[in-house]
Amino acid sequence: MNNGLTLKHISKTYQDTKSEVTAIKDFSFTFTTGEFVSIVGPSGCGKSTLLSIIAGLEKPSTGTVLLNGTDITGTISNIGYMLQKDYLLNWRTVYKNVLLGLEIKNMLCDETKTYALNLLKTYGLNDFLNKYPSQLSRRHEATCSIN
Ligand SMILES: Nc1ncnc2c1ncn2[C@@H]1O[C@H](COP(=O)(O)OP(=O)(O)OP(=O)(O)O)[C@@H](O)[C@H]1O
Ligand SMILES: [Mg+2]
Repeated sequence: MNNGLTLKHISKTYQDTKSEVTAIKDFSFTFTTGEFVSIVGPSGCGKSTLLSIIAGLEKPSTGTVLLNGTDITGTISNIGYMLQKDYLLNWRTVYKNVLLGLEIKNMLCDETKTYALNLLKTYGLNDFLNKYPSQLSRRHEATCSIN
Protein backbone atom coordinates (compact mmCIF):
# COMPACT_ATOMS: atom_id res chain seq x y z
CA MET A 1 0.00 0.00 0.00
CA ASN A 2 1.47 3.36 -1.06
CA ASN A 3 -0.85 5.90 0.57
CA GLY A 4 0.27 7.57 3.76
CA LEU A 5 3.46 7.91 5.69
CA THR A 6 5.62 4.89 6.37
CA LEU A 7 8.57 4.73 8.71
CA LYS A 8 10.84 1.72 8.21
CA HIS A 9 13.39 0.67 10.80
CA ILE A 10 14.14 4.21 11.97
CA SER A 11 16.98 4.64 14.42
CA LYS A 12 18.64 7.83 15.58
CA THR A 13 21.80 8.15 17.62
CA TYR A 14 23.12 11.56 18.65
CA GLN A 15 26.87 11.65 19.09
CA ASP A 16 29.37 14.11 20.37
CA THR A 17 33.04 13.65 21.17
CA LYS A 18 32.36 12.18 24.62
CA SER A 19 29.08 10.31 24.50
CA GLU A 20 26.25 9.01 22.39
CA VAL A 21 22.51 8.80 23.00
CA THR A 22 20.18 6.45 21.19
CA ALA A 23 16.98 8.46 20.85
CA ILE A 24 15.11 5.97 18.60
CA LYS A 25 15.86 2.31 17.99
CA ASP A 26 14.38 0.37 15.05
CA PHE A 27 10.98 2.08 14.90
CA SER A 28 8.56 1.10 12.13
CA PHE A 29 5.02 2.38 11.64
CA THR A 30 2.54 3.31 8.92
CA PHE A 31 0.27 6.34 9.27
CA THR A 32 -2.57 6.01 6.78
CA THR A 33 -3.96 9.10 5.05
CA GLY A 34 -6.51 10.92 7.21
CA GLU A 35 -5.59 8.98 10.31
CA PHE A 36 -5.20 10.85 13.61
CA VAL A 37 -2.33 9.41 15.63
CA SER A 38 -0.99 10.41 19.04
CA ILE A 39 2.57 9.59 19.98
CA VAL A 40 2.76 9.38 23.75
CA GLY A 41 5.72 8.61 25.94
CA PRO A 42 7.90 9.87 28.79
CA SER A 43 10.22 12.82 28.38
CA GLY A 44 13.28 11.86 26.35
CA CYS A 45 11.75 8.80 24.67
CA GLY A 46 12.27 10.32 21.21
CA LYS A 47 8.94 11.91 20.22
CA SER A 48 10.41 15.19 18.98
CA THR A 49 13.27 13.38 17.30
CA LEU A 50 10.76 11.25 15.41
CA LEU A 51 8.77 14.31 14.29
CA SER A 52 11.98 16.05 13.20
CA ILE A 53 12.94 12.99 11.14
CA ILE A 54 9.49 12.90 9.51
CA ALA A 55 9.73 16.63 8.72
CA GLY A 56 13.25 16.20 7.32
CA LEU A 57 14.86 18.42 9.96
CA GLU A 58 16.98 15.51 11.22
CA LYS A 59 18.42 12.61 9.26
CA PRO A 60 17.88 9.18 10.79
CA SER A 61 20.98 7.14 11.52
CA THR A 62 19.26 4.21 9.83
CA GLY A 63 15.92 3.63 8.15
CA THR A 64 13.68 5.27 5.60
CA VAL A 65 10.70 7.62 5.54
CA LEU A 66 8.24 7.06 2.70
CA LEU A 67 5.48 9.52 1.81
CA ASN A 68 2.89 7.96 -0.50
CA GLY A 69 5.55 5.48 -1.56
CA THR A 70 8.26 8.07 -2.27
CA ASP A 71 11.46 8.04 -0.24
CA ILE A 72 11.70 11.45 1.49
CA THR A 73 14.30 10.48 4.09
CA GLY A 74 16.28 13.53 5.20
CA THR A 75 14.60 15.87 2.74
CA ILE A 76 12.42 18.85 3.57
CA SER A 77 9.04 17.92 2.13
CA ASN A 78 5.72 19.61 2.71
CA ILE A 79 5.50 18.12 6.20
CA GLY A 80 5.84 20.43 9.17
CA TYR A 81 5.06 20.25 12.85
CA MET A 82 4.31 22.61 15.66
CA LEU A 83 6.78 22.62 18.52
CA GLN A 84 5.91 22.65 22.20
CA LYS A 85 7.01 26.30 22.26
CA ASP A 86 5.61 28.57 19.59
CA TYR A 87 8.99 30.10 18.58
CA LEU A 88 7.32 33.08 16.94
CA LEU A 89 9.63 35.90 15.92
CA ASN A 90 8.65 38.74 18.23
CA TRP A 91 9.74 41.45 15.81
CA ARG A 92 7.48 40.21 13.03
CA THR A 93 3.72 40.66 12.88
CA VAL A 94 1.33 37.71 12.86
CA TYR A 95 1.09 37.90 9.07
CA LYS A 96 4.87 38.09 8.65
CA ASN A 97 5.38 35.16 11.05
CA VAL A 98 2.95 33.07 9.03
CA LEU A 99 4.76 33.97 5.79
CA LEU A 100 8.18 33.03 7.18
CA GLY A 101 8.16 29.40 5.98
CA LEU A 102 7.16 30.49 2.49
CA GLU A 103 9.85 33.19 2.51
CA ILE A 104 12.56 30.70 3.52
CA LYS A 105 11.45 28.26 0.84
CA ASN A 106 11.38 31.08 -1.72
CA MET A 107 7.69 30.41 -2.36
CA LEU A 108 6.26 33.85 -1.65
CA CYS A 109 3.92 34.98 -4.42
CA ASP A 110 0.39 36.38 -4.73
CA GLU A 111 -1.11 32.90 -4.76
CA THR A 112 0.66 31.69 -1.59
CA LYS A 113 -0.01 35.01 0.19
CA THR A 114 -3.73 34.66 -0.60
CA TYR A 115 -3.61 31.08 0.64
CA ALA A 116 -2.01 32.23 3.91
CA LEU A 117 -4.54 35.03 4.32
CA ASN A 118 -7.40 32.56 3.84
CA LEU A 119 -5.90 30.25 6.46
CA LEU A 120 -5.60 33.17 8.89
CA LYS A 121 -9.25 33.95 8.26
CA THR A 122 -10.22 30.28 8.81
CA TYR A 123 -8.42 30.19 12.16
CA GLY A 124 -9.92 33.47 13.38
CA LEU A 125 -6.74 35.53 13.13
CA ASN A 126 -7.91 37.96 10.50
CA ASP A 127 -8.22 40.82 12.99
CA PHE A 128 -4.69 40.18 14.27
CA LEU A 129 -2.69 40.28 11.02
CA ASN A 130 -0.72 43.36 11.99
CA LYS A 131 -0.35 42.56 15.68
CA TYR A 132 2.89 41.35 17.21
CA PRO A 133 3.08 38.08 19.21
CA SER A 134 3.29 40.02 22.49
CA GLN A 135 -0.11 41.56 21.68
CA LEU A 136 -1.86 38.18 21.36
CA SER A 137 -3.61 35.91 23.82
CA ARG A 138 -1.88 32.54 24.36
CA ARG A 139 -4.56 30.83 22.26
CA HIS A 140 -4.00 33.12 19.27
CA GLU A 141 -0.23 32.85 19.67
CA ALA A 142 -0.41 29.05 19.42
CA THR A 143 -2.70 29.20 16.40
CA CYS A 144 -0.46 31.45 14.38
CA SER A 145 2.55 29.13 14.76
CA ILE A 146 0.89 26.62 12.47
CA ASN A 147 2.49 27.54 9.17
N1 LIG B 1 20.40 17.50 19.33
C1 LIG B 1 20.58 16.54 20.25
N2 LIG B 1 21.83 16.18 20.63
C2 LIG B 1 22.02 15.19 21.53
N3 LIG B 1 21.03 14.52 22.14
C3 LIG B 1 19.77 14.86 21.81
C4 LIG B 1 19.48 15.88 20.86
N4 LIG B 1 18.13 15.98 20.72
C5 LIG B 1 17.62 15.07 21.55
N5 LIG B 1 18.60 14.38 22.20
C6 LIG B 1 18.42 13.28 23.17
O1 LIG B 1 17.62 12.28 22.52
C7 LIG B 1 16.66 11.75 23.41
C8 LIG B 1 15.26 11.96 22.84
O2 LIG B 1 14.98 13.36 22.86
P1 LIG B 1 13.61 13.96 22.32
O3 LIG B 1 13.74 15.44 22.40
O4 LIG B 1 13.30 13.37 21.00
O5 LIG B 1 12.58 13.40 23.41
P2 LIG B 1 11.03 13.76 23.63
O6 LIG B 1 10.31 12.45 23.73
O7 LIG B 1 10.57 14.72 22.60
O8 LIG B 1 11.08 14.46 25.07
P3 LIG B 1 10.07 15.59 25.69
O9 LIG B 1 8.81 14.87 26.07
O10 LIG B 1 10.83 16.07 26.90
O11 LIG B 1 9.88 16.66 24.67
C9 LIG B 1 16.91 12.43 24.76
O12 LIG B 1 17.74 11.60 25.53
C10 LIG B 1 17.61 13.70 24.38
O13 LIG B 1 18.47 14.15 25.41
MG1 LIG C 1 9.77 16.73 22.68
